[in-house]
Amino acid sequence: MASVPSLASTLQQQLADALTAALPEAGAADPLLRRSDRADFQANGILALAKKLKGNPRELAGKVTDALPAGQLIKDIEVSGPGFLNITLTDRAITETLAARAADGDRLGVPVAADAGTTVIDYAQPNVAKEMHVGHLRSAVIGDAMVQILEFTGETVVRRHHIGDWGTQFGMLIQYLFEHPGELGHKGGEADGEAAMSSLNRVYKASRVLFDSDEEFKARARDRVVALQAGDPETLALWQGFVDESKIYFYSVFDKLDMEIHDPDIVGESGYNDMLEETCRILEETGVAVRSEGALCVFFDDVKGPDGNKVPLIVKKTNGGYGYAATDLSAIRDRVQNLKADTLLYVVDARQSLHFKMVFETARRAGWLNDDVTAHQLAFGTVLGKDGKPFKTREGVTVRLQDLLDEAVERATAVVREKAEKVGLTEDEIVENGRYVGVGAVKYADLSTSAVRDYKFDLDQMVSLNGDTSVYLQYAYARIRSILRKAGEAKPVAHPELELAPAERALGLHLDQFGAVLAEVAEGYEPHKLAAYLYQLASHLTTFYDQCQVLSDDNPAPVVENRLFLVELTARTLHQGMRLLGIRTPERL
Ligand code: ARG
Repeated sequence: MASVPSLASTLQQQLADALTAALPEAGAADPLLRRSDRADFQANGILALAKKLKGNPRELAGKVTDALPAGQLIKDIEVSGPGFLNITLTDRAITETLAARAADGDRLGVPVAADAGTTVIDYAQPNVAKEMHVGHLRSAVIGDAMVQILEFTGETVVRRHHIGDWGTQFGMLIQYLFEHPGELGHKGGEADGEAAMSSLNRVYKASRVLFDSDEEFKARARDRVVALQAGDPETLALWQGFVDESKIYFYSVFDKLDMEIHDPDIVGESGYNDMLEETCRILEETGVAVRSEGALCVFFDDVKGPDGNKVPLIVKKTNGGYGYAATDLSAIRDRVQNLKADTLLYVVDARQSLHFKMVFETARRAGWLNDDVTAHQLAFGTVLGKDGKPFKTREGVTVRLQDLLDEAVERATAVVREKAEKVGLTEDEIVENGRYVGVGAVKYADLSTSAVRDYKFDLDQMVSLNGDTSVYLQYAYARIRSILRKAGEAKPVAHPELELAPAERALGLHLDQFGAVLAEVAEGYEPHKLAAYLYQLASHLTTFYDQCQVLSDDNPAPVVENRLFLVELTARTLHQGMRLLGIRTPERL
């Protein structure tokens, strides 16, 4: 593993040093280096600096230029306008840097962060005995991408699937099962998720009918909640049955999503049950929480209801029951004190933002969170239907995830099939690719817009070959693989002595940015920036194909080799980037 500094960061450093040399009184000033259309880069920082120090910007720009070290990095530098620097790099520097990336295996020269810590990511958290919905899908997809990206940058990541497996609703379910033994469960294969869900649905509906119509059943269901909380073994065993049946269903959906979820990482609400009392006791003793109308509450100056009264976070209800907040506060203690996390990341619907704001602030007051141990919600928006309303079926019910994924795969398979003959795919390959393209389309749509924005779920657009879609990226990758197969004897070899065409330079400079983009994505929890980077990479590749032939008899051998080298590095970068987003890149498409 050898990390490779990007050309931009090397240049930035050289400029900063030159700036200090030319103007010692400036201290450590930022040359504000940006990519530019006029040259490769433009440094805009000199202008402001000269103004601040009452100097002549153009003169200062000239001094900075003189102070730059002679070397092989810069080909051309000119002072432009009121005092900008336009900088063009040598082709040699570009090719040599890319060659260093290519020599670094899967890491592609991306450094492992020196100051990495431990992040606990709370994501993919469906609810027991309930159908998963598109919101759960978003959490899973975005969360999984963040897990991969943070791990790649060197962070220690602990996954936590905070499933909803506890609470009063289980009283009704368990009591029903107690009175109607054997009604839960399904015939057929162990892994039959749909059968598991319909069995859960059946019990849910039947128990609901009883609960709503039979007062005595209702009372027995309430007593059952008490028995559950008291840890009555028979009650717990029935509860466990609901959890196990639900997990069969969850795993089938995650499997369809081509996503790995591991049992030990599923620590649902029930997992913090033993901590709730202590959490409340600490909060009360430290005065963070106070008694109000019989409930234990935390108040905030800036959280008020429509009537202007403060709306508290309720950690313990008047009836003595604990709710969602007490569980989340206990989970924070566990993650910070036992898992030794220094960062907590919650991939949860934006509609829960107020809850997390209050929970995090409470944890800060209690000292569980502080400046070194922080919590963040990676909030995501609502998935909308084509009509711009929250995504539902025509009948107005929640869309079943299995159906949605099946349809995406079906459409994608049709797209793959259209080209299959030309590419020479077998039926098995068509089926496999259809799955990767379909699931990739759903994931990419989720990942390619800023998470907090609502987005429209539009399958037609998602599997389109043109535009910002995963299949466009997958085709870009497969096309390169095809060229590399066709190259035969010719191998990818970097030739730093060669002059580069404009499209080669543009592609190369973009390739060099991979690590910088990943660092930004990891820092701000913004996977859409990785998606955007990869889309731009594929677009640079398209321009490159338009302007540069790779396998042409007219090309001298070194040109062929160098272009193969460029496209091969592009393929590897696409592959790694897509992998981090949880999307496969088939070899032939
Ligand atoms: N199960 C919850 C839901 O379906 C999401 C849980 C989010 N995580 C948490 N720690 N509260 O809305």
